[in-house]
Amino acid sequence: MEAVLSRAGMWFLLLVLSVAAVATAADGGFAVHMTILAIVAFVALCLTVARSDFDSLGNAIVRAPADPSRYDDDPVRWGVIATVGWSIVGMLAGLVVALQLVFPALNLEPWLNFGRLRPLHTSGVIFAFGGNVLIASSFYVVQRTCRTRLAFPGLARFVFWGYQLFIVLAATGYLLGITQSREYAEPEWYVDLWLTIVWVAYFVVFVGTLIRRTEPHIYVANWFYLSFIITIAMLHIVNNLAVPVTPLGSLSYSAFAGVQDALTQWWYGHNAVAFFLTVPFLAMMYYFVPKQAGRPIYSYRLSILHFWSLIFLYIWAGPHHLHYTALPDWAQTLGMVFSVILWMPSWGGMINGLMTLNGAWDKVRTDPIIRMMVLALAFYGMATFEGPMLSIKAVNSLSHYTDWTIGHVHAGALGWNGMISFAVVYFLVPRLWKRQRLYSLRWVNWHFWLATVGIVFYAAAMWVAGITQGLMWREYGADGYLVNSFVETVAALKPMYLLRAIGGVLYLAGAVLMVANVWLTIAGRQRAEAPLREAPYDPEADRPIVAVPAE
Ligand code: HEM
Ligand code: HEM
Repeated sequence: MEAVLSRAGMWFLLLVLSVAAVATAADGGFAVHMTILAIVAFVALCLTVARSDFDSLGNAIVRAPADPSRYDDDPVRWGVIATVGWSIVGMLAGLVVALQLVFPALNLEPWLNFGRLRPLHTSGVIFAFGGNVLIASSFYVVQRTCRTRLAFPGLARFVFWGYQLFIVLAATGYLLGITQSREYAEPEWYVDLWLTIVWVAYFVVFVGTLIRRTEPHIYVANWFYLSFIITIAMLHIVNNLAVPVTPLGSLSYSAFAGVQDALTQWWYGHNAVAFFLTVPFLAMMYYFVPKQAGRPIYSYRLSILHFWSLIFLYIWAGPHHLHYTALPDWAQTLGMVFSVILWMPSWGGMINGLMTLNGAWDKVRTDPIIRMMVLALAFYGMATFEGPMLSIKAVNSLSHYTDWTIGHVHAGALGWNGMISFAVVYFLVPRLWKRQRLYSLRWVNWHFWLATVGIVFYAAAMWVAGITQGLMWREYGADGYLVNSFVETVAALKPMYLLRAIGGVLYLAGAVLMVANVWLTIAGRQRAEAPLREAPYDPEADRPIVAVPAE
């Protein structure tokens, strides 16, 4: 009972503070955010008071299942549902911005214009879709590989719900025009503070679980997850150091200025790619690829080498985003050199993942989940070849500011992050909801092809657009003047933008199919369907082709 009272008191205090903040807010956006906080506090207060039977409530929202012989999978299940849901929101926003670039009339001022929807898309796919699959899969993997339940189950639940609140605050903030204009770190100071609290809780749950493990060895996937949690905390705190104009308003000023600011932003930006979009997704690879293939990882030794070399090299590569800027030349060259070296460990990791399939390659034909994993690894390899190439200054002078970068981003994002996440969702859903199999494997196959063709449309269109753009920008006539005006280069790209949007429709259609498949699987349905491939022996076909002379 005391616990109920103290929790209710905490929510009540939060409710009063947020209502006071609404009343005294310095700007409308801040007032809206404080209203959201007040609603959350009010709902939590009602739940706490209405259900003083804490044990039954606990099972649902705040506590782990009582049975110690089961893993604590509630936060994982919620995380999978959140992943699937946010994937649609984030990609739909991507499709809308893609269409806005073809049909500018679709810019609906002020809330749904390109400038506000673009960060909604990037944060939606990276932090909402990617973040949820990472938190959920890390909670799943760390329990299995440590053979223990999550430490601090209440805190694990706080991580999940707190992270969703962060996403809602960030997303609504973009639509309201609240941004600190740092790419991939757009939310303002108070949302950043909230994320810091949630992230520290995440660290405590993860490390606590590692400490109480019953397996002596810490499996390599956990190393990758842990470095993701620690490094993101470090990047987030340093990049977001800022002074609010008033404690009751959304506006703040960065602690950095000038080229130091640019370098801090891209130290963060590049390492967000490295430690959010790469390292923890590799953790997923190291656990789920061997599991799905039913084979041990190709080389455990290589995985350790892969880990330490990536960690050491990635952190230096940020300056490749600032070639030909006011950043000192030596720093640009340093970024370039480290980026080129990065190619090796990246491919080492890809090869380690692919070679795990040695002896099980037939599964690429029969198991669409493995096929997704293989494609993800192939795109990981492609993006990590293209990246080092783009970081070479001579290449970057053509590619920078063009759609080539966007093509590179989406080869990595759609091909690597998207595909491996979809595969992990398909792996997890039947296991988490104790179903014999997915509703339909053939639908997974459809998803695979829709997504693959979508990526091809997207990436090919952007490569052509980027190189066209770069070449048109730098074309000089015999008279020494530029041949093309900027608007001519924009007009030349329109067909490519349309093709990209078509790619987006296909990719999104695949994701919608995933939602239906996951939904029906959870509902306990199974589609009656023939297995994907049967190759029965046909003695009639087992003979050479004999040439028949023409008559
Ligand atoms: C339906 C699928 C998608 C479509 C149609 C789409 C479309 C777009 C568009 C139109 C842009 C803006 C490009 C510009 O400003 O010129 C963009 C940017 C971006 N998208 Fe996507 N996207 C999709 C999926 C994804 C996914 C799944 C991810 C990540 C996991 C992702 C990550 C990004 C990032 C990081 C940027 C910013 C790139 C930069 O600033 O260089 N996108 N996307
Ligand atoms: C060895 C690995 C990689 C290297 C060296 C690398 C290098 C680069 C370079 C040179 C740029 C262009 C910078 C510019 O001209 O503005 C870039 C942009 C980008 N890359 Fe990579 N890349 C790598 C792997 C990846 C992967 C695997 C992903 C995604 C999963 C990715 C996501 C991005 C994003 C999101 C941007 C756009 C940043 C922005 O301007 O907003 N990269 N990368």
